[in-house]
Amino acid sequence: MNEKDYEYAVSAAGRINIIGEHIDYCGGKVLPAALSLKNTVYIRPNGTDRINISWTTLPGTVSLDIDGLESYKGLKYGSYQAGSAFVWQRAGHNIIGCDMLYDCSIPFGSGLSSSAAIEVSTIAALATIAGENFEKVDVALKAQQAEREYIGVNCGIMDQYASACGKENSAILLDCKTLESQYIPIELNGYSLVITDSKKPHSLVSGKYNERRAETEEALKILQRHVKIDCLADMPPAQFEKYCRVLEGSVRDRARHVIYECERVRLAVAAMKAGDMEGLGDLLNRSHQSLSKLYDVTGRELDALAGAAREHPACAGSRMTGAGFGGCTISLVKTGDVEDFKNYVLKRYERETGYAAECYDADISEGICVKKL
Ligand code: GLA
Repeated sequence: MNEKDYEYAVSAAGRINIIGEHIDYCGGKVLPAALSLKNTVYIRPNGTDRINISWTTLPGTVSLDIDGLESYKGLKYGSYQAGSAFVWQRAGHNIIGCDMLYDCSIPFGSGLSSSAAIEVSTIAALATIAGENFEKVDVALKAQQAEREYIGVNCGIMDQYASACGKENSAILLDCKTLESQYIPIELNGYSLVITDSKKPHSLVSGKYNERRAETEEALKILQRHVKIDCLADMPPAQFEKYCRVLEGSVRDRARHVIYECERVRLAVAAMKAGDMEGLGDLLNRSHQSLSKLYDVTGRELDALAGAAREHPACAGSRMTGAGFGGCTISLVKTGDVEDFKNYVLKRYERETGYAAECYDADISEGICVKKL
């Protein structure tokens, strides 16, 4: 591939979520950060009424008719692109015929939001080649719509927002109820975040994800008969304890996770600002426990991986990041001991589960970047 054959390189980032899991769709505050692992789209106009898509890592080309973008839902490859283009066009934006080459350094299915990065970079690239200025937040919202309506995952806004609006060396404290956000510098006081992929293949993720979301909606509906709240995140823990008896079984467990995870985000931001890494690590551990026991989205592998991490003396805390059901953990580890930590965890995890996990080296980086070639 020769960059010079294209007019622009437009990229969007993968992400980790430091804390605040499965609460974005409940109006909670989350703390994601964009990664240097990213999807880059090389794009040039082609003077036709088609979008031609190819990949640096896959053979073949997929050609989309600009006037029939709603009809590509079943594609094995290319449906994220078609859905993103469709939603952008439906919002009144001009789409021009173009060639798009995808180069993705985010491992697929790892829970680091390769799909959000593909959606966000697709829209940003299409807008750029059509000569349009765009707001990153607007791109994130349209990308989320594509994921929900075209792909069928009823997701929150966290992934697309982080992928579009991330900032170097900063986490984003994003209020998912209001979309107000604040950048929080990632200063970890001698510690580093280590990303480890459990390599457990994802299966049935979208079904289980949508099911969890439906359970939280049911909890909200029942609680609203008793208290005046717009979303679960509005409810402080003490109030929840007073009313939780109106909920039953797993619906109560899901709601309990959401209420206390919101509280943990608040505490984690305070710990980060105070440089209290033991405190932050403890919150990561408690978040994972809650996702395992109350929200039931971790599974044997992620529990084993986070458990192995916690056994290492240089690790302050570890948790799954993203939707769960496989994917990655993040661990807070003393910087000087990272290599020893990785060796220990990879061996220990493989012995327990049979999967060869992998650690990814990534920096905290920018969201959308547009480069004229
Ligand atoms: C997925 C979704 C996000 C969020 C996380 C869980 O990554 O796309 O919206 O709900 O799961 O926190």
